[in-house]
Amino acid sequence: MKNDRAGRRQRQAASVPTTYDYAKVAAILERWQDVPGNLLPILHDVQEALGFVPADSVAQLARGLNLSRAEVHGVITFYHDFRQQPGGGRTLKICQAESCQAMGSRRLTADLEAELDCKLGETTGDGAVTLDAVYCLGMCACSPAVMIDEELIGRATPGDVLARLFDASTGEDS
Ligand code: FES
Repeated sequence: MKNDRAGRRQRQAASVPTTYDYAKVAAILERWQDVPGNLLPILHDVQEALGFVPADSVAQLARGLNLSRAEVHGVITFYHDFRQQPGGGRTLKICQAESCQAMGSRRLTADLEAELDCKLGETTGDGAVTLDAVYCLGMCACSPAVMIDEELIGRATPGDVLARLFDASTGEDS
């Protein structure tokens, strides 16, 4: 089972963008240039285009928006959603807020960390999965809740989560 997962993880990791692309960031800046309050949407677009917000892009963004580098860096580090390192092929967010804690999210987290050999805030060694904490997914009635990429899963168990991470994504076992 673990060998099957390893193969799937390698295929997922192969498609992850990992580099800073000056031209893409410049195009995003251009697109949002005249929109008030544009820093957040720009950062979201950079992350969507590159998979993360590279440290090298901070100076370019600051110059383009006439902000200090500290201001741009402060926003990136304030919001959990902005990733400063390349993420995994898939992102698994595990809710750590009260309702989910009461329904076992700490145990779920520990089990998934052990299975993936990766802690919250880290990416698996093969780059296939990034594990993140999130604080309420609006699924409190179905705690514990997780999100895999854009898919919400309630009453999550380690088995469900691992199956959806590595089986449903490839369609090989469905
Ligand atoms: S507390 Fe986890 S979904 Fe609300």
